[in-house]
Amino acid sequence: MNKKVSVIGAGNVGATVAQRLAEKELCDVALIDIVEGVPQGKALDLTEAAPIEKHDAHLAGSNSYEASAGSDIIIITAGIPRKPGMSRDDLISTNAKIMKIVTKQAAELSPEAILIIVSNPLDAMCQVAYETSGFPRNRVMGMAGVLDSARFRAFIAMELDVSVENTHAFVLGGHGDTMVPLPRYSTVAGIPITELLSSERIDALIDRTRKGGAEIVGLLKTGSAFYAPASAAVEMAESILKDKKKILPCAAYLEGEYGINGLFIGVPVKLGASGIEEIIQIKLTDDENAALQKSADAVAELKALLKEIA
Ligand code: NAI
Ligand code: 2OP
Repeated sequence: MNKKVSVIGAGNVGATVAQRLAEKELCDVALIDIVEGVPQGKALDLTEAAPIEKHDAHLAGSNSYEASAGSDIIIITAGIPRKPGMSRDDLISTNAKIMKIVTKQAAELSPEAILIIVSNPLDAMCQVAYETSGFPRNRVMGMAGVLDSARFRAFIAMELDVSVENTHAFVLGGHGDTMVPLPRYSTVAGIPITELLSSERIDALIDRTRKGGAEIVGLLKTGSAFYAPASAAVEMAESILKDKKKILPCAAYLEGEYGINGLFIGVPVKLGASGIEEIIQIKLTDDENAALQKSADAVAELKALLKEIA
């Protein structure tokens, strides 16, 4: 039997996730949205592309959560995206309400599923999904670090005129202005970028990475990035579906790791069939650790805000 992934929210990110999952033939896909006709239309359109794209994944679009029953993974992209001038945090009140409704309905019908949260503000939305689902912490995670690291990798490759395949990067922390790109752990063919680039150039790439989401919002004007975010969510899903045990930076619920307790924040994790199989604790310098703690403080403020608006 094929694995099944449900994608909740058939907007820009959700539809692109569905497309990539199907075209990589990773699983069957259920696409769910509240807007009548949209998930059905997009699923049918993707199904009609299948003979050309050469895959046999089944895609079903629906406004009913029944279509998501028995999922191995649920990827939640439902919510509003930001517009120019808005921060990710400005979305919290609307998206927290949506996250609660969506998680409750989807989790009831797929009690063994692994949840990958995409909606913003990411770390706070993971908290809502974790509390609403009651799932153990290994089965609730957020997508941000893979995207932020991919942006950093793309900028490193452009700067050094090398293949993106030679690049590796780690961006930890919350998915916001306080994210923590780690140049010491970012490499080209295994060589740390600190040996290849001046500190001024590294700082410029870090700044562009931190503002990577806003750069796309500024260009698109009517919404936010979706191609790279979809690729990032699918990389996480693939590692779980194929039990690849990739080490990827993901938002995970920390219980004392990195000295942080009771918060979702981006850290390196091992992703396999049971979800987060290990939280990898890498050695940080005092400055790196201080940056991660500052980022955790920003996430803690959002968690407190969630309580106020609940
Ligand atoms: P979009 O507006 O294109 O799609 C959102 C979809 O959610 C819409 O189709 C809407 O009808 C649907 N929706 C709203 N309420 C719903 C409900 N109660 N049940 C089911 N569906 C519902 O937005 P886009 O660009 O796809 O972004 C989605 C979310 O992902 C936003 O919050 C955005 O900020 C976030 N995002 C997060 C990223 C990350 O790195 N974690 C990267 C990119 C986007
Ligand atoms: C991004 O980083 C909007 O969080 C989204 O592109």
